[in-house]
Amino acid sequence: MFKLSAKQHRKLERRLSALKADPHVQQMKRYRQHGRTSTFDHCERVAALSYAIDQRFHLNADLDALLPGAMLHDFALYDWHDPHDPHNAHGLHGLRHAKMAQENARELLGASDQVQHIIWCHMWPLNLTRLPRSKEAWIVCVADKCAAVGEVFHRRGTF
Ligand SMILES: [Fe+2]
Ligand SMILES: [Fe+2]
Repeated sequence: MFKLSAKQHRKLERRLSALKADPHVQQMKRYRQHGRTSTFDHCERVAALSYAIDQRFHLNADLDALLPGAMLHDFALYDWHDPHDPHNAHGLHGLRHAKMAQENARELLGASDQVQHIIWCHMWPLNLTRLPRSKEAWIVCVADKCAAVGEVFHRRGTF
């Protein structure tokens, strides 16, 4: 149901290749997200699933916002499993990392307001007041949860 065709895969790669090659974005390969999945792989999966949802339901999302927003939604650049990482001394990762990822995307990559919004609210409803206010933000919010469930149960490649 959510499989991309070969043509869609190529389009996704074309649109994200420069962003994925950025050295800051490459740093996400160092950090573990869910199960054995790196943050980079998780974000790639969320981008592919977001695109698949958009295509499957003919949502006509703005791909210039949707795809970078999905690829950068967890761009917080620290290991939330490491108790010695100073980032973990200031509170719950689930409540804090979206804001950090948004700030990194703005400061390191000059992300647009629309992309920043997608990142900022992707943890809704955990961050209850950060309601997604765009179609693209809703898609990433849903895709993130679906991808996370698959990764926790080690069903890599499900989507
Ligand atoms: Fe997240
Ligand atoms: Fe995520």
